[in-house]
Amino acid sequence: MTQPRNILSRTCVLAAALLVFASAANSQTVQERLATCLACHGENGQSNTPLTPSLGAQPAFFLSIQIFMFRDKIRQVPLMNQMTQGISNNDLKALAEAISKLPAPVPKHAPEDVNAERMAATRTLAEQNRCNVCHGANYAGGENVPRIASQREDYLAKTLREYKANTRRGYDAAMSDVLHSVSDEQIGDLAYFLSRLR
Ligand code: HEC
Ligand code: HEC
Repeated sequence: MTQPRNILSRTCVLAAALLVFASAANSQTVQERLATCLACHGENGQSNTPLTPSLGAQPAFFLSIQIFMFRDKIRQVPLMNQMTQGISNNDLKALAEAISKLPAPVPKHAPEDVNAERMAATRTLAEQNRCNVCHGANYAGGENVPRIASQREDYLAKTLREYKANTRRGYDAAMSDVLHSVSDEQIGDLAYFLSRLR
């Protein structure tokens, strides 16, 4: 990945500043919070912000767990820890419900620009590692398991590397176990494959 770690669009930085300000006043409604979240994550469910995941069509339960883990600093990402500070359990569920109803993201790459051989080889690799068993035949997830089809390639690669290095704490140990036998190059292939899945 060649992208610098800290590029966030201007809207996002502004959104972050506003959220910090508003949460000090502690008077944000769920709808107001949601607008702040989607300034970075994409209003239509699809993120255009580097290293920031698309959230459209993620299972509500997965979203609730991740927001809860950010709020309680179990999953440590300072930006997201800040964003979720002081969210009540009820608001957290309402946010997750609203976000899960956004449309699923669509791959940015035109089908003719996709390397069919690399896709086929990586599909086999994914099935050998049982990615499809937990994430579903079409990788749309369910319950506590996230949707990974058509997620951003940069985020997929980053987060898979973090599970492998045990720097991303999951709700359970499933992912660090799975990635134990997956090489860094294979992580690149998996990110390529998943981000282009339609
Ligand atoms: C300033 C930009 C920004 C704002 C505002 C923001 N996020 Fe995030 N969010 C991020 C980034 C960057 C990540 C990736 C963190 C990482 O690297 O693990 C993230 C990760 C997440 C994830 C994890 C998703 C996954 O697939 O792993 C969830 C859920 C989430 N954010 C929800 C929210 C909610 C809810 C709000 C509003 C309360 C919000 N975010 C506000 C930038 C932002
Ligand atoms: C045993 C079930 C299981 C298997 C097998 C599995 N996963 Fe997962 N995966 C999960 C669960 C559960 C999570 C959420 C963990 C957490 O709380 O962070 C997850 C999270 C992820 C995420 C994070 C997505 C996001 O938006 O934050 C990615 C990417 C991912 N898995 C890719 C894969 C790939 C690629 C494979 C195959 C190499 C795979 N998974 C195999 C259960 C599984």
